[in-house]
Amino acid sequence: MFRNQSFNYAVFGNPIDHSKSPKIHNLFAKKTGIFHTYKSVNVPLDQFNTVLCNFFKQGGQGANVTAPFKQEAYLFCNKLTERAKIAESVNTLKKIDDKYILGDNTDGIGLLSDLIRLNFIKKKYSILIIGAGGAVKGVLFPLLSFGCSIFILNRTFSNAKKLVSQFNKYGDIHIFDKTLWNIKCFDLIINATSKFIKKKDDFIPLSLVSSKTCFYDMNYQINNTAFIDWCLKIGSVFFSNGIGMLAFQAAHSFLLWHNILPETDDIIDILKR
Ligand SMILES: NC(=O)c1ccc[n+]([C@@H]2O[C@H](COP(=O)([O-])OP(=O)(O)OC[C@H]3O[C@@H](n4cnc5c(N)ncnc54)[C@H](OP(=O)(O)O)[C@@H]3O)[C@@H](O)[C@H]2O)c1
Repeated sequence: MFRNQSFNYAVFGNPIDHSKSPKIHNLFAKKTGIFHTYKSVNVPLDQFNTVLCNFFKQGGQGANVTAPFKQEAYLFCNKLTERAKIAESVNTLKKIDDKYILGDNTDGIGLLSDLIRLNFIKKKYSILIIGAGGAVKGVLFPLLSFGCSIFILNRTFSNAKKLVSQFNKYGDIHIFDKTLWNIKCFDLIINATSKFIKKKDDFIPLSLVSSKTCFYDMNYQINNTAFIDWCLKIGSVFFSNGIGMLAFQAAHSFLLWHNILPETDDIIDILKR
């Protein structure tokens, strides 16, 4: 597949056409003066291992992995950073030598860095996370270690339950259930679903929200996401999409590969435009 491979870094996913990672990493390379050619690769759903093995055999040095392969990437790596072990999910791979591929997860540090930049997070904050997929697995440990309480609300209850039992040894984490509708108010609400379906206007009851509540959508697109539209509709002024998280998680992948943490402020501005 990668005969005469002309790139040594890449992002692998399916679908992948929408990915902004090549743009971000090529900007990082230019900025830091590090030689690093980065492309995106669409992987057939049943061929993740074959494609990744070929890439590393043909000169690949580092990879990002996006949906739906983060779990497979975790199993593919034969060395893991502590945070990847805890998340059981990998979004960054680095070739150490012919024997070892190191797996890391930079989604958590990416989200936390952006929440700090936006001034959306403080110790002891109460956070509602909507969703319980691979991305949430990556962000729970950093948020719990920061000292926040977390409640998980998910379409499939059993997936939320599984996450809570996996992470309750690291901090204060609970399933959000309807008995809390009228007695809880959150400092921060994060949308981590791949589809935010606004069934009715009170999808998130306003009793859970104050005028200071911040809203963060891990998703990003040029126009407002449905979640951001909903934030505007309820009159919130503290909201953001996930473009900053994307830039910061990429910066931390770059750090793992090249020992340099690139600045992200100007990249976030470029991506917003
Ligand atoms: N900004 C960034 O850097 C960044 C990084 C990582 C991910 N993301 C984004 O975050 C989102 C989640 O990623 P992921 O890797 O966690 O995906 P995932 O593993 O596929 O999980 C998807 C989540 O969305 C829920 N969901 C899917 N369709 C739904 C629907 N119709 N109604 C309600 N809930 C629904 C799923 O619930 P069930 O458990 O019920 O299936 C699950 O909790 C993606 O859109 C991804 O692009 C952004």
